[in-house]
Amino acid sequence: MRRLWIGIALLVVSAVGAGAQPGLVSYDAASKVFRLDGGNTSYVFGINSRGELQQIYWGGRLAATDKFPQPKPMREWASFDDSYTNTPQEYAGWGAGLYNEPALKVTFADGSRDLVLHDTGYADMTHGFDVLLKDIDRAVYVTLHYTMDPGSGILARSATIENREAQPITVEQAAAAAWTLPAGHYTLNYLTGRWAGEWTLNQEPVMPGARVIESRRGSTGHQANPWFAMQSGAADEEHGEVWFGALGWSGSWRITVEQDQLDAVRVTGGFNPFDFGYVLHSGERLETPVFYGGYSADGLGGASRRLHRFELEHILPRTPAKSGQAAALTPRVRPVIYNSWEATGFNVSEDGQMALAEKAAALGVDRFVMDDGWFGQRKDDHAGLGDWYVNPQKFPHGLKPLIDKVHALGMDFGLWVEPEMVNPDSDLYRKHPDWVLNFPGRPRTEQRNQLVLNLARPDVRAYVLGFLDKLLNENQIAFLKWDYNRNWSEPGWDQVPASEQKRVYVEYTRDLYSILAELRRRHPNVEIESCSGGGGRVDLGILRYVDEVWPSDNTDPFDRLTQQDGFTYAYTPQIMMAWVTDSPHRLNNRTNSLAYAMLSSMQGSLGIGANITAWTPEQTALAKRLIAAYHQVQSTIVQGDLYRLISPRNGSEFSATETVSPDKKQAVFFIFEHSTQEGRGFPLLKLQGLDPAAEYALTSIEGKARADTPAVASGDWWMNHGLQMDDGFRGDLQAAAFRLDKK
Ligand code: GLA
Repeated sequence: MRRLWIGIALLVVSAVGAGAQPGLVSYDAASKVFRLDGGNTSYVFGINSRGELQQIYWGGRLAATDKFPQPKPMREWASFDDSYTNTPQEYAGWGAGLYNEPALKVTFADGSRDLVLHDTGYADMTHGFDVLLKDIDRAVYVTLHYTMDPGSGILARSATIENREAQPITVEQAAAAAWTLPAGHYTLNYLTGRWAGEWTLNQEPVMPGARVIESRRGSTGHQANPWFAMQSGAADEEHGEVWFGALGWSGSWRITVEQDQLDAVRVTGGFNPFDFGYVLHSGERLETPVFYGGYSADGLGGASRRLHRFELEHILPRTPAKSGQAAALTPRVRPVIYNSWEATGFNVSEDGQMALAEKAAALGVDRFVMDDGWFGQRKDDHAGLGDWYVNPQKFPHGLKPLIDKVHALGMDFGLWVEPEMVNPDSDLYRKHPDWVLNFPGRPRTEQRNQLVLNLARPDVRAYVLGFLDKLLNENQIAFLKWDYNRNWSEPGWDQVPASEQKRVYVEYTRDLYSILAELRRRHPNVEIESCSGGGGRVDLGILRYVDEVWPSDNTDPFDRLTQQDGFTYAYTPQIMMAWVTDSPHRLNNRTNSLAYAMLSSMQGSLGIGANITAWTPEQTALAKRLIAAYHQVQSTIVQGDLYRLISPRNGSEFSATETVSPDKKQAVFFIFEHSTQEGRGFPLLKLQGLDPAAEYALTSIEGKARADTPAVASGDWWMNHGLQMDDGFRGDLQAAAFRLDKK
């Protein structure tokens, strides 16, 4: 990195793949304007005549020759709307006359709470800038980090706050970034849910005032996910302008979407200021999470395709390349797993798991995962968490015989753990009752009979890292399902002075990340899933350390269609694990065919979670055939460009999705009929994203197209003429899937 804390002009041209416009960043010293271009997007800000950092432009890519004058602060509109609050600052301190959402709010040791940030210099970074701000008087420094992905145009923003005062300061609110949108009318899209009901897409007009989406729970949460998309005007799935963003933080977070009194629209997000208070001693720094933001001119579909590609190429970890091999651009596709949870619950045993493993291997499964129940005195959810030794009654010879058996069957082995939790009925808790989050002398609220270990404590961090490392050293484990089955309560941390206890909101999550990073360093081939009673911890922060997530404990294949639809607005299908489980489903008591469940799960990374020892030979044969078909097209499904052709939301009778491989050589599409009404057949399906002139051959994976459908036709034909399903495709819970291969 070249440090340049002075204003000289520079131009950094970065390489991107053939065909795409290169990304570039530039600073114009005469007009004091910073500009970042990448993919389809330009982002421009500058230093205004008052010395503030002011946003100028965010949207479709502009010509390299387009120039901007130095930005001017907005004028005072009325004595109630001063210039300071009207000016779209990149990162406003709470001070002077600011009334809208601040990016940063601090209290100084003398009680002053006035913070006015002005530019003092910048450094050029690879694909971006670090811009240094300082309070007009006091030695509080804020470095704003900007990095533009040249391929997707997605901008990563974050801030480092540094106290160079002699006395401590308390940071009461710290955003990663504030995004100013162009003047206009917007529809806000955001994701909410609950346990077994995650990933509901909400769409509502942005109105004057503030709309807050957040978690106060210590972790990301099922209830809202740190992602937003703002559609302008009549934008829809494939058309119109969309500005979107996702926050990379797995602790308490907040995103505020605000339309102010002059109709300016801003999105500010970072640490949740609720119960926040981070003391920075002299010389200390606080790093915010990263807030990623992007722009699409082709609707919500274009937004999610960009985000998926960005996650695949820049966020997700990958197992190291073998010596002599080039590092892969994207992570490897997920092994098809078998997981025993819905078949056995806590009742795991060596014999039972071996019997399931034999059946799983016969289906063509790649990875066998043993879920909860294998450790400590774990018979149900009342005991055992914290005691990570193998239960000697259930596994008298340790895990080795089972793991050896799984390997002999040609699969690798995965194991469930819940490292951050403890049951009061455990040896660990009896020995270390002070290790949990608690306020001394106050009751400790249990959820699922468990308490949260305070990972911010160095001894707890060392214990968790230590037992996981030992488990991985002593057993040939390829995969950990890392669970987290409750939210925080009584978040006390009495080992540190009272004034510093609220640092727990940051240090806990940082320690979680550092444990995951260290485990990956020591065991580079081990893969990890983030699970939190389903989809309670899915965000771009944890995704830097885990390979996949468990989107929901709800595995009903019909419910999953809507959940998977919602999930893919923010996250790539690569990480979206989807198990086929037993019918009737235990949550809804709904009955479905195995083919329907298989196809629903094949939209993401496929797994089997049913009691396969009870399957009929016909069911086994069907699953085996579909797993083999899935293996052939998996990388297109999970890493291709996704088109949500027909949404399953809002009680839709029908739904369909299509993914096209990045080289457009293959497309796979899924078709679901909920229940035929009034004899209506499935609507004409027009595909998208194909090479118009190329010839594509149609192959059924499951189900039949109308008899007169050509075996081979052009991309134009499939996209413009479209495909009609066979007349027999009607009834309740019907599913079909096809592939198109370029000739
Ligand atoms: C959570 C997970 C489930 C299962 C159970 C085990 O609910 O989401 O998949 O692992 O815990 O207790």
